[in-house]
Amino acid sequence: MSYLIYIVSAVILLFGFVILFGAPFLPTLTKQIDPIFELLDLSEGQTLIELGSGDGRILYEAGKRGINAIGYELNPVLVIYSIAKTWKYRKSVRVIWGNYWQKKWPSADGISVFLLDKYMSRLNNKIIQEYKTPIKLVSFAFKIPGRKIDRQKKGIFLYRYN
Ligand SMILES: C[S@@+](CC[C@H](N)C(=O)[O-])C[C@H]1O[C@@H](n2cnc3c(N)ncnc32)[C@H](O)[C@@H]1O
Repeated sequence: MSYLIYIVSAVILLFGFVILFGAPFLPTLTKQIDPIFELLDLSEGQTLIELGSGDGRILYEAGKRGINAIGYELNPVLVIYSIAKTWKYRKSVRVIWGNYWQKKWPSADGISVFLLDKYMSRLNNKIIQEYKTPIKLVSFAFKIPGRKIDRQKKGIFLYRYN
């Protein structure tokens, strides 16, 4: 019984501590995955970054479409799960364990996020700082304050930079 308590506490801690750094784990619904890719409109061989890649469902879809994808995820359980899930596309899909705010983001054509309101301005500033070439951002549910939305579909917002 005490083992069970340790295991449950460890899982709660792993899933709970991320709220200090970003949004907690809440996966994008399956029906919203297609609109994400329709809005991003990336071609085969282009690169997508996902900030907080969760269980890897968007990375998997990117791999299926021939898009290179890099996901950052803080929760080690989700990192292991998503590496296993996207193994089939391991040549084009990578999952990096770590805090995306502390990473230098690689060059890419698109970024996908499902954050929280309070992180949207910080995200906007970091994209402006890191990217000098055109890049598209899709955000599920949350808007960037003061920035023009390029297109939207099913609660997903597309922004263009440069
Ligand atoms: C709302 S969920 C979205 C998951 C996935 N993007 C999706 O749409 O299905 C946010 C994810 O970001 C991760 N996360 C939160 N803050 C993070 C940070 N600073 N660095 C890396 N991952 C983070 C959480 O563990 C969680 O899996």
